[in-house]
Amino acid sequence: MKHRRFGPLDVECPVIGLGTWQLEADDRERAIRAIRRAIDVGMTHIDTAELYGDGEVESLIGEAIAGYRSDVFLASKVHPDHATYTGTLLACEKSLRRLRTDRLDLYLLHWRGTLPLDETLRAFEALEREGKIRAFGVSNFDVADLEAAIEIVGEGRIACNQVLYHLGERDAEHVLHRICARHGVALVAYSPLGSGRFPKPGSFKGDVLASIAAAHGVTPHAVALAFLLRQERTFVIPKASRPEHVEALAHAGELELRPEDVEAIDSAFPLGPPRSKLPYL
Ligand SMILES: NC(=O)c1ccc[n+]([C@@H]2O[C@H](COP(=O)([O-])OP(=O)(O)OC[C@H]3O[C@@H](n4cnc5c(N)ncnc54)[C@H](OP(=O)(O)O)[C@@H]3O)[C@@H](O)[C@H]2O)c1
Repeated sequence: MKHRRFGPLDVECPVIGLGTWQLEADDRERAIRAIRRAIDVGMTHIDTAELYGDGEVESLIGEAIAGYRSDVFLASKVHPDHATYTGTLLACEKSLRRLRTDRLDLYLLHWRGTLPLDETLRAFEALEREGKIRAFGVSNFDVADLEAAIEIVGEGRIACNQVLYHLGERDAEHVLHRICARHGVALVAYSPLGSGRFPKPGSFKGDVLASIAAAHGVTPHAVALAFLLRQERTFVIPKASRPEHVEALAHAGELELRPEDVEAIDSAFPLGPPRSKLPYL
């Protein structure tokens, strides 16, 4: 599994982690096996949020990683409606309890809500001083929000911006990638497989991915992740609730696409003009 420095942190993180949104709806025992398999294959960045299953997913992860905590780079997120100064401290305590740990590796603001950003960030700094989180970052932040956050805490403090980025939604490539790079912020791609809307076998796009996958002896899903990972400073957190899916995804961690592969994917999934409702511009 390839590793990269995670933003400004002195931490080498696997380029592929594991997402856990909606994991509470999957078979619990199988989901726990999938998380443990992810740790075994090096997908040790585990991403969750207090929002997921209303805390149920954090509890499930707590059970899955008990005994393996030191192997995991554990990330959770505070809900924007809780993100006052004291609300953030309290939400973190609850997440720690559910995750059965005394420290998060990364704590994110899930998206920018209506509460004052400086309160959330001051709470993150306090949690960091107390050793309850190792680092903090943001999610779903556009360029203006990201620059506002950096203005508050200074350069080199925001570890990452976790944003929507997959083959069918490449808006982050327009400007956000460059701005993250300029400030040394890691870009973490969420829904990197299109959140269940992956190109079907037999479709034109599906066939482009399938033929590249066959040439490398991997699955189309691994090819899709490798394409996103060609960008420096990028990480992906696909969700998989089945151990066999986890194993297939892990192959992307070593996969080097050939220039002709990149070209073929680029023309099947063109960047196009900005079209996201999310203002990643
Ligand atoms: N910050 C935010 O606002 C935000 C928003 C959305 C998501 N996220 C994070 O990003 C993570 C990933 O995004 P996502 O959950 O939307 O979806 P995703 O990772 O784009 O896609 C997940 C889907 O792909 C399937 N899959 C995974 N590996 C596969 C394989 N090898 N072969 C076939 N199918 C495979 C999964 O099936 P199985 O489950 O059956 O394995 C699941 O249905 C989330 O779980 C969450 O942690 C963050």
